[in-house]
Amino acid sequence: MKKVFKWIGIVLGALVGLLLIAILSLYFIGNASLNKTYDFAPSNIVIPSDAESIAFGKHRSETLCESCHGDNLAGGKFFEDEMLGTLDAANLTTGEGGIGREYTSDEDYVRAIRHGIDPRGKPIFMPAVTSTSHLSDQDLGAIIAYIKTIPPVDNVTREKNLKPLGKILMGAGMFPKLPASVVNHEIHVTAPERGVSVAYGDYLVSTNDCRECHGQEMAGAEYPDPTIYLITPNLTPGGEVGFWSEEDFINTIRTGVTPGDHQLNEHMPWETYKLFTDDELKAIYMYLQSLPKLPQYTE
Ligand code: HEC
Ligand code: HEC
Repeated sequence: MKKVFKWIGIVLGALVGLLLIAILSLYFIGNASLNKTYDFAPSNIVIPSDAESIAFGKHRSETLCESCHGDNLAGGKFFEDEMLGTLDAANLTTGEGGIGREYTSDEDYVRAIRHGIDPRGKPIFMPAVTSTSHLSDQDLGAIIAYIKTIPPVDNVTREKNLKPLGKILMGAGMFPKLPASVVNHEIHVTAPERGVSVAYGDYLVSTNDCRECHGQEMAGAEYPDPTIYLITPNLTPGGEVGFWSEEDFINTIRTGVTPGDHQLNEHMPWETYKLFTDDELKAIYMYLQSLPKLPQYTE
């Protein structure tokens, strides 16, 4: 009898040991991915200085960057979880704590926004890079030009801090991947001509995080923040939007209320998207209507 207990003890001990090794390995995989260094050829993007380009950069910033970096682009809390860690969106100004004081070249901006790395080549945890990596050279140049003109705001954001459990989940692939490890890293990107077209709508959807939440095919997806349980709606003609007119769509994005009188919750950043021009919203609508009719994503 005693022998049996001894064997059970050994087997259990071995199992616990293996589990610990597995958890430690995941921790090290997660940690290593954060510490990896990346290097890319410079894009040498032209940073424009004319008023029209800077105004367009402002518009792109308002409809994209400000949802996370704040109206004054001074950054602030993006993610906070006791067990997983904290992540602030950076202060993009030249005030105290701002990256404008640390960045020494335009290429530093390109590295962050297009490649998802900081000036030392380390990956940043800005999920939007899966979108901003698709910004054309021209749009990216305009955004950088605008950011360099914004007034300084003093705001020292917190150092990013991923707790051991966060690193373990990351190693296990249960966290959104570090963008630097998944995006294309093209050195030069072009965009379709601005206007009301399916192609330009596709470009806006790809560069404004719609796919990050509504899924690559726009048929709905699990919300990217692992601490929020939510499935986003299908925006292909297979979903409710398929029954909306162009006017319905524009009204929904402008007011946050759908034709069915549903108030969109705070997880859909319509307050940012309401600043899109009519033509931009028309292009997005045209693109969504052109998609194959897919069923709503379910788990
Ligand atoms: C969905 C949220 C989100 C959006 C949208 C977003 N950012 Fe960020 N950004 C972040 C977070 C979070 C960080 C901090 C990343 C980190 O510390 O690893 C960050 C960091 C940065 C950094 C600093 C990188 C460094 O050197 O540490 C720059 C520059 C930046 N963002 C620019 C932009 C610009 C420009 C846009 C719009 C084109 C934009 N971001 C849109 C969330 C966002
Ligand atoms: C941060 C995540 C997130 C992003 C980014 C996002 N959405 Fe949403 N969206 C949601 C969520 C969540 C809902 C559901 C809200 C609700 O039902 O209250 C939603 C709902 C919608 C709806 C209403 C659909 C319906 O059937 O009621 C439309 C239209 C929409 N989003 C369009 C867009 C477009 C266009 C973009 C990009 C420009 C976009 N969304 C980007 C999270 C997001």
